[in-house]
Amino acid sequence: MSDSRDNSRVEPGDARAPSKDLRPLSALWGFVRPHGGLALLALVALLASSAFTLAIPAALRGVVDSFSPKHAAEIDRYFVWLLVAAGALAVFTALRFYAVAGLGERVVADIRRAVYGHVVGMSPAFFERMRIGETLSRLTTDTTVIQGVIGVSSSVALRNILILVGGAAMMTATSPSLSGLVLLATPAVVLPVVLLGRRVRGLSRLAQDRIADSSATAGETLQASQTVQAFGYEPEARRIFDADVEAAYGAALKRIRMRAILTGLVIFIAVGAIAGVLWVGAQNVLSRQMSPGELTQFLLYSVFVAGSVGALSEVWSELQRAAGATERLMELLAAKDPIQPPAQPVAPTDISLDRPKLGEITFDNVSFRYPTRPNAPVLNQLSFQVKPGETVALVGASGAGKSTCFQLLMRFFDPDQGAVRLDGVDLRAMAPSTFRRRFATVPQEPAIFAASAAENIRFGCPDATLADVKAAAEAAAAHEFIAALPDGYDCFVGERGVMLSGGQKQRIAIARAILRDAPVLLLDEATSALDAESEQAVQQAVARLSAERTTLVVAHRLATVKSADRILVLEEGRLVASGVHDQLVAEGGLYARLARLQFSA
Ligand SMILES: Nc1ncnc2c1ncn2[C@@H]1O[C@H](COP(=O)(O)OP(=O)(O)OP(=O)(O)O)[C@@H](O)[C@H]1O
Ligand SMILES: [Mg+2]
Repeated sequence: MSDSRDNSRVEPGDARAPSKDLRPLSALWGFVRPHGGLALLALVALLASSAFTLAIPAALRGVVDSFSPKHAAEIDRYFVWLLVAAGALAVFTALRFYAVAGLGERVVADIRRAVYGHVVGMSPAFFERMRIGETLSRLTTDTTVIQGVIGVSSSVALRNILILVGGAAMMTATSPSLSGLVLLATPAVVLPVVLLGRRVRGLSRLAQDRIADSSATAGETLQASQTVQAFGYEPEARRIFDADVEAAYGAALKRIRMRAILTGLVIFIAVGAIAGVLWVGAQNVLSRQMSPGELTQFLLYSVFVAGSVGALSEVWSELQRAAGATERLMELLAAKDPIQPPAQPVAPTDISLDRPKLGEITFDNVSFRYPTRPNAPVLNQLSFQVKPGETVALVGASGAGKSTCFQLLMRFFDPDQGAVRLDGVDLRAMAPSTFRRRFATVPQEPAIFAASAAENIRFGCPDATLADVKAAAEAAAAHEFIAALPDGYDCFVGERGVMLSGGQKQRIAIARAILRDAPVLLLDEATSALDAESEQAVQQAVARLSAERTTLVVAHRLATVKSADRILVLEEGRLVASGVHDQLVAEGGLYARLARLQFSA
């Protein structure tokens, strides 16, 4: 729980990202380019709507100045202009909103797909360094920030830059002297905004961090609510969460106070400055250096310009946030998997006359350590071979490296030395997707998905019929309990299968492997959670299956491995003995010791 308060952690969507400039945003171009038509429409609509925004004060000047009786005839014309400008503004603004927001949604959908598509195929080594939760929040929070930028901020920024430049130009054209005056007054308004604005931003980041802390704490404890309650941890959890929430509130309040002062100050200075300029303008109108319409026009432009400055200062921090988010997502997209498929993959060996059966497994002098623990050798010059159709059991103490052998067989990791081969072909020479098709595996901790029982069994063969699913469930001694579920095979089993017992989950995983119908069966403690009766039923099914398949079994209960064709005894990643049960017992090594402990009772 302590790591949830680790301040060095980079939160998604946080402006504290490694770089503070906006350069990472350019990576988004690659995602915008395929939708060039929509981007162009957005740009055209943006330019047009900005131009018509700028035209409105000019039309309004005509209206105001035609109040004098001698211009009465022109008033209709100016009103028509005003209406046309307003109508065009409305059309192009709607079009701009549609194109820009649509582009934002499209790009974010593409980024989400690209990132998930990339990450879902990453090998376990990647997830050992990258927390799953962090990947998820990048997929959701960071992409949402980017959506805001492409769908809103970029258009706000561009529009306001156009209005700022255009408005300033029009102000100068309307009255150079008043514009000069405004220019002089600008620093008085901008300076406090910049200085205080920086503090407000810092404080809002602090508040966000606090909120992230509190949700991390809440997430952990709610996910493990049973452990929390069993150990009476609720008061402590409440205390920690309360403290986080109050800290977040305190930080937010500080920010709000600063923001309130800033707002008041800006209004005071801005209104003061406008009043000053207006006073000078009024003097000009009185001395007939300026028409009332011109003063109106000038005022409107200065309001536009001031508004765009304000909008730009807000958008700036948004853009910075999005730059950080983009950088993290692109990092994720660029992450290279340590397990790379070969450039020219060899096809797995096919059934032929001299090879009637498939599934020969070879470990050739394999040494391996996990990349996260380079100092702890797990497998040590391990060599063994499993012939097609043979059933071999791996036994050994906890931590001996049995599950690791399975990990290497699936090529989730590559050995440091030696080679793992399937039917004589080095795994590294084949495309993982093709040779993994040859394995049906029941892992030590089977993964059950939040779906129906049938869908969980169908996991490895999406096209299997319900009859096939039922046949597999029957073979795995799972049919009876599934049929007794409220909706039978359509019954939802809950997230991670929480609505099932440990043994039920195992039997679903076994049914899944049976349905997969692959030449190699890998069973890692597949029946460890079953009662004796179900285990016997499953064992019979497995025996039937393994009769024609290569089977590698890991089990602590030696009764389940006794009937294997061969037993390999692993000790600290080394093969220390091999043979059939009686032979190994007679030899009197580690296996005999284990057997004595288990069978003497
Ligand atoms: N992902 C990993 N990263 C680092 N070390 C690991 C990882 N997985 C396993 N290990 C280490 O490798 C060693 C062998 O683990 P392995 O899971 O192969 O044991 P096992 O023989 O299957 O044990 P058990 O019977 O308890 O399942 C252990 O010391 C373990 O701590
Ligand atoms: Mg294991």
